[in-house]
Amino acid sequence: MAHRIDAHPAPAPRGRAIVLHPVLPSAAQSARAPDARLREACGLAAAIDLDIAHAAVVRVDRPRPATLLGTGAVERFAAVVADARAAGAAIDLVVVDHALSPVQQRNLEKAFDAKVIDRTGLILEIFGARARTHEGKLQVELAALSYQKSRLVRSWTHLERQRGGFGFLGGPGESQLEVDRRLIGDRIVKIRKELEEVRRTRGLHRTARARVPYPVVVLVGYTNAGKSTLFNRLAGADVVARDQLFATLDPTMRAVALPTGRTVILSDTVGFISDLPTHLVAAFRATLEEVQSADVILHVHDAAHPDADAQRADVEGVLRDLGIDPQRDPRVVEVANKIDLLDGDAGRAAADRAARAGGCALSAATGEGLDALVRLLDGRMTADRRVVAIDVDLTDGATLARVYASGEVLERHDDDRLAHLQVAIGPAGLARLSRRGAVAA
Ligand code: GTP
Repeated sequence: MAHRIDAHPAPAPRGRAIVLHPVLPSAAQSARAPDARLREACGLAAAIDLDIAHAAVVRVDRPRPATLLGTGAVERFAAVVADARAAGAAIDLVVVDHALSPVQQRNLEKAFDAKVIDRTGLILEIFGARARTHEGKLQVELAALSYQKSRLVRSWTHLERQRGGFGFLGGPGESQLEVDRRLIGDRIVKIRKELEEVRRTRGLHRTARARVPYPVVVLVGYTNAGKSTLFNRLAGADVVARDQLFATLDPTMRAVALPTGRTVILSDTVGFISDLPTHLVAAFRATLEEVQSADVILHVHDAAHPDADAQRADVEGVLRDLGIDPQRDPRVVEVANKIDLLDGDAGRAAADRAARAGGCALSAATGEGLDALVRLLDGRMTADRRVVAIDVDLTDGATLARVYASGEVLERHDDDRLAHLQVAIGPAGLARLSRRGAVAA
């Protein structure tokens, strides 16, 4: 099941889809506009290279147990599918941006005479397509298998055969239709074991990285907020950035030199989304471990998005789950992005707001305001610094190098055994040195 997503050039559409966003009475109070939710769902569908033939918000006054959608809506979209087929532009898939029970899904497939996937299935496909590390792939597969266990009767084989892919939803070589529950159970056990092994070695890798004493700056934010674009701007790196959701699943890291010469490690993370299916929380969390130990957390948000506030609240909720208080934790820096899309007044308001929160407003696309962010980062690295005296054995080259990388050496005086250093250093650097046993007095 080796699988690789190539970012360039954009692949040809892999199927034609209808995207429906049901609005249930329970969601009437939701802070998010249904149109924005529909746009997000279309973005998700486009992220797995589906060509969207038709998209609609569907009001559901009384959810029907058999189909979720009302009879009228089912008939209406069945007609859309039939018309498309008659016109020679068949619809391969109907995406329902809501959770569907296996029965609802099956009934809708019959009524539409097309394959149907729900929001969980869609996100699984995206995570599957975007997972890059071995661990990410295993975790997505685990999530997909548990989800599938309840849906063995279903197939999406037609589309899957064309697409290739992980085969989570029924695919070549390993058609899930023929794989019974017992086999899925066996596979789950095997993946869990592999995951344990990967986690053990990842622990080793992390220890190796902890020896690189550079401050870590992570970018977090709602999907499509512009993290990868900002990452590229700052790092001049070539990570995937295109108008697709979830261009990044596994953290990507680059070393960046700030104007004062200080090196930081910049780390991009996968985008957050609302209503993350519970099956996927573990897979998603695994991508965020870097955040907990980061020195600076840049919370990038799309200041021009109609749901900017709700998106920010989502991200802050996840940060809280990770034990980070977004309001109080001084490591969190607000970055209002896409100000090029705002008119003068709105742009100034976004900038004021970000500045009041100790952050900044910028456009990752045009580069406007980027200098302020870089200065802010530089300042962060130098704020909270204090001057400490550190003595290092002259034969201990590794510790000496670490001291130089962790702080600014203001003075040095060597005797025949020790280097006596005066070092301006921040709390994170000091903590790293203490962990390594360097003497600070
Ligand atoms: P995920 O990987 O899905 O989490 O997205 P992301 O947050 O990494 O977003 P990405 O950088 O991929 O940007 C999403 C879209 O927004 C792309 O089409 C970018 O070109 C666009 N974009 C990013 N920053 C800006 C900006 O400052 N202004 C404008 N106008 N567009 C931007």
